[in-house]
Amino acid sequence: MMELVLATNNPKKVTEIRARWGNDAVRLFTLQEAGITGELPETHETLRENALEKAQYVYERTGKWSLGDDSGLEIEALDGRPGVYSARYAGEHGNAEANMQKVLSEMEGVSNRRASFKTVLALETGDVSYFFEGEIQGMIIPEKRGTGGFGYDPIFVPDGYTQTFAEMDPEEKNAISHRSLAVDKLLEFLKNS
Ligand code: IMP
Repeated sequence: MMELVLATNNPKKVTEIRARWGNDAVRLFTLQEAGITGELPETHETLRENALEKAQYVYERTGKWSLGDDSGLEIEALDGRPGVYSARYAGEHGNAEANMQKVLSEMEGVSNRRASFKTVLALETGDVSYFFEGEIQGMIIPEKRGTGGFGYDPIFVPDGYTQTFAEMDPEEKNAISHRSLAVDKLLEFLKNS
């Protein structure tokens, strides 16, 4: 059976990818299961380069196919910020509360609330690297709503919905999210290869 390591330390990303996984021929491993501890490198200025950097770091240490996920929230009125800096927008890596507060204060009084979530998945196979992208459009609301999901979910309402990602059931977010769109493209690729 083919083995694929998920090159992420974010348990929410692991859950979302696993929930979408529909390929019994490929067995997914977490970093922990693959014996990798510590932070993954993330040193570039694009989602694509960062996703690949994570995947290659894990491939080099495990010899197994590896999948990196780099994602971000791009807000039109903020010239695409926080973008690739989404995880560390307020300074400290992964402080979702502080990151959201920074976005909400920058968006105070701003009428253009358009934003999109993007995910780039990089699949490192040793010989070749492949990329799969997903994107969802929506709006930044003025205050947080909901407790589900992670990161900026409480302030993002996807187009065509009234609830934030954090107010939705996990299945509902997973049916439409940027990450799921990218995972579906990867699954399609694996099915055909
Ligand atoms: P990464 O781990 O470098 O990809 O950082 C992604 C950051 O973007 C996370 O820390 C979150 O703040 C945000 N992010 C990525 N995907 C999502 C999502 O599905 N919902 C909410 N925030 C997300």
